[in-house]
Amino acid sequence: MNEKEVMNLEEKLMANVYAKRPIVITRGKGALVWDINAKEYIDCTGSYGVCIVGHSHPKVVEAVKRQAETLISCHSSFYNDARSKLLQKITQISPKSLNRVFLANSGAEAVECAIKLARKFSGKPEIIAMMSAFHGKTMGALSATWDKKYREPFKPLVPEFKHVPPDNLQKVKKAITDKTAAIIVEPIRGEGGVRIPPNGFLPGLREICDKTGVLLIFDEVQTGFGRTGTIFACEHWNVVPDVLCVAKSVAGGLPLGITLAKENVMSSLKVGEHTTTFGGNPLVCAGACAAIDVLLEEKLSERAATQGRYFKRKLELLQARHKIVREVRGLGLMIGMELRFDVLNIILKSADRGVLILDAGRNILRFLPPLVIEREQIDRVINTLDTVMEEEKNERLPG
Ligand SMILES: Cc1ncc(COP(=O)(O)O)c(C=O)c1O
Repeated sequence: MNEKEVMNLEEKLMANVYAKRPIVITRGKGALVWDINAKEYIDCTGSYGVCIVGHSHPKVVEAVKRQAETLISCHSSFYNDARSKLLQKITQISPKSLNRVFLANSGAEAVECAIKLARKFSGKPEIIAMMSAFHGKTMGALSATWDKKYREPFKPLVPEFKHVPPDNLQKVKKAITDKTAAIIVEPIRGEGGVRIPPNGFLPGLREICDKTGVLLIFDEVQTGFGRTGTIFACEHWNVVPDVLCVAKSVAGGLPLGITLAKENVMSSLKVGEHTTTFGGNPLVCAGACAAIDVLLEEKLSERAATQGRYFKRKLELLQARHKIVREVRGLGLMIGMELRFDVLNIILKSADRGVLILDAGRNILRFLPPLVIEREQIDRVINTLDTVMEEEKNERLPG
């Protein structure tokens, strides 16, 4: 198939729910992807934050190949060696007290489990989430998500969710009632614009939850697994939640969502109350085991910290050169660059020049590259952005 044929088929047959970019990606390696015409791109989207260990990491490929030849499918009502290995590995790298694991297939599903868990454990219905939060688009997760454009068409949503202004402990305290089961929060808000909370916020939430008996749920679907320079972002503030949701990057590119919880919390779910056919699938588990090994062996969270500092410094130099940049912020290799106008043109022009970038709202560029990205590749991204911003400035202010 050629480029046109691929695009035509997707246009014609696929639900029209993704804002498509006109690129057919057919191959990836490390931080690079290639389109169907063999044009190379530096992938600062990391497939929306998935490709922490890089595209098609050889160890993940080998593990998946080996598992595919052995056993692809095994429902979790049977035991399986690949699954048990993953359970061991994931609990070894997670906060110690989070020693019970539910395996699903996506970030939204990891959040769904956390919501049901909170209600079942507490016997209470209410969940407090943050304004500008993003937790996914299934009905439960969507009810915790803030953005109107995702919520409005699907009302009525799940009842008893309320949103409070982020980073404001007083408002959280005021919102808690005797019906509150849990507070759900992203340690760093990703879709909401790469927003890092003030230092006291997450420890303050922990304190409030300890005092009131409300569960604290961290959604680390985007921040987890080395992205921000520590294995989980909550480590930056030394705060351990009662429930932790992870997905995106944890299986080296394969679909996996994980909900970790304290023993007494997870044990509130009884046999049959929350299951999914593919959860704990051996192929995905084998990929995830390999991805965790790579994360540790290649010290990728440390690498995210150093490469992230370098990347952010370079972006700040761009900010000094281009008045269109309002702010650069981020931790590790989760970086946002806020502009004074819509970023769509910058994203499209960068793609033309071989650099793929995400947005996070109308005027924020978001960088979630694989943690294996090289300095030379970061330099190429910066040079491209420099050129594109110059061009954009000239177009906006002719003469
Ligand atoms: C913080 C957070 N939670 C949940 C989700 C939903 O994950 P998924 O798209 O895998 O359902 C996302 C996706 O971007 C996310 O960033």
